[in-house]
Amino acid sequence: MAKSFELDTLKMRLNDANWQQLDLHQRIQRALRALILDGALGPGVKLPATRSLAQSLGLARDTVENAYVQLHRDGFIVRREGSGSYVSEAIGAELKGGARRRARQQEHRRGAPPPGSGLSRRGRLIFESGGVADQQAVKAFATGLPETRTFPTDVWERLQRQVLKSCRSNVLLHGDPQGAEPLRKAIADYLNLERGAKVSAEQILVLSSTRQALFLCAQLLVDAGKAIMMENPGYFGARKAFESAEARIVPIDVDEQGIRVDLLRADRSGANAVYLTPSHQYPTGATLSLERRLELIGWAAETGKWIIEDDYDSEFHYDGLPTACVQGLDARQRTIYLGTFSKTLYPGLRMGYMAVPHELVSAFTFARSIMDGHTPPILQLTLARFMEDGHYNAHIRAMRKLYAGRREAMLAAIDRHLAGIVVPLRPQGGLQIPCLLQAGWSEAETIRQAAAAGVQLPGLSRLYAGEEKRQGWLLGYASLAAHEIEAAMSRLAQALRAP
Ligand SMILES: Cc1ncc(COP(=O)(O)O)c(C=O)c1O
Repeated sequence: MAKSFELDTLKMRLNDANWQQLDLHQRIQRALRALILDGALGPGVKLPATRSLAQSLGLARDTVENAYVQLHRDGFIVRREGSGSYVSEAIGAELKGGARRRARQQEHRRGAPPPGSGLSRRGRLIFESGGVADQQAVKAFATGLPETRTFPTDVWERLQRQVLKSCRSNVLLHGDPQGAEPLRKAIADYLNLERGAKVSAEQILVLSSTRQALFLCAQLLVDAGKAIMMENPGYFGARKAFESAEARIVPIDVDEQGIRVDLLRADRSGANAVYLTPSHQYPTGATLSLERRLELIGWAAETGKWIIEDDYDSEFHYDGLPTACVQGLDARQRTIYLGTFSKTLYPGLRMGYMAVPHELVSAFTFARSIMDGHTPPILQLTLARFMEDGHYNAHIRAMRKLYAGRREAMLAAIDRHLAGIVVPLRPQGGLQIPCLLQAGWSEAETIRQAAAAGVQLPGLSRLYAGEEKRQGWLLGYASLAAHEIEAAMSRLAQALRAP
């Protein structure tokens, strides 16, 4: 066990990619907690005073104080009047020493389940992934949040009342694990009309989210230790879902036309499927060219492999029409299509869906029934009405217009305030803008400086596999009004340019 607190070790922990979306005091709290749990801060070790730690980290004292308060509340530290804050002895006793921890880590590196943890190897992988941290409040410039403040809750409320009145206690019972029929039909109609898909209601599964769909894909399509291909850079939620199923991820590079299908063809890893975001590549924003779409479909048909198409935000396309989805072009039915209402409506709704080839419907439905049964019937039927009555399309149209204006406000603000620091990649759609840092600017450092000024800069490099990582940010703008964008951008520029 370390005898004293080490500032550099804490700083390294603070850069944990999983915590970048958290508020600063939460990141400090998590970092200290992780050091205590790892045994890097042993029982009885004295922590620096809040004032001096705040000074060393260039933060407000309150930020550190909030972190200490939470650690104290959770029993990780004790605070002695006039003396300071110490790692709790009780926690130390529970952890039973660093030697055992190191043994556990060594075991784990060899791939064995850590003895004494009570977790399976898979459980340990999930634990170590740190999960996916969702942004729980509107904050500049959190990635991928839609505007929720203008959501037509009055309409929603009225439709929900209608559902309760007409269906009575039937909607209080269990529902179909595949999803309520009216909603599956509304989704199929929407996909066929708006996204160029070719699906029937029988192929739709209503789920809690894209993330649940990814978890199901990982469970059903990849054996432990086997490969799955995914875009590089790519969506961390997909990576974590596959890794937690003990899949080996084979990164496939992306260029300005989307995923490199030639590399996919050349792959010899034995992967059974590829995950991609063809309409609006996450995070680069590239659209997969038609030529590559056809090549991709041809590859899947020839090899019998699966295409997992994540169409997470294609509704928000601002320059011309969005390209139709891959699923609709795929006559051989090798595509599993994933969609979500997190962007088009609001993320707290927790509703998403997948459209699967007929041969997969039962397996996915059974897996879903094991996982969590079904999505609440009241929500599903309310959403079905919302879609049938035209509110869904109207809301998307209104938001598309709003976000297109906000994209311009954001690009103008970047131009005004951050010239010489980043180069934005003008996105054709979506809710965020990738920005590449210019030479001489460090991603980790800018993220830290911005956080101290209350601005969140989601880093780009964490989305890359391997050694070659682009340094930059993925800035969300859709949830912020133009004046909020301007105010945050000006604060950010001041923080970054401060001597
Ligand atoms: C590429 C991508 N896919 C899926 C999702 C998640 O959608 P859901 O909220 O339905 O899990 C996100 C969310 O940010 C995303 O960026």
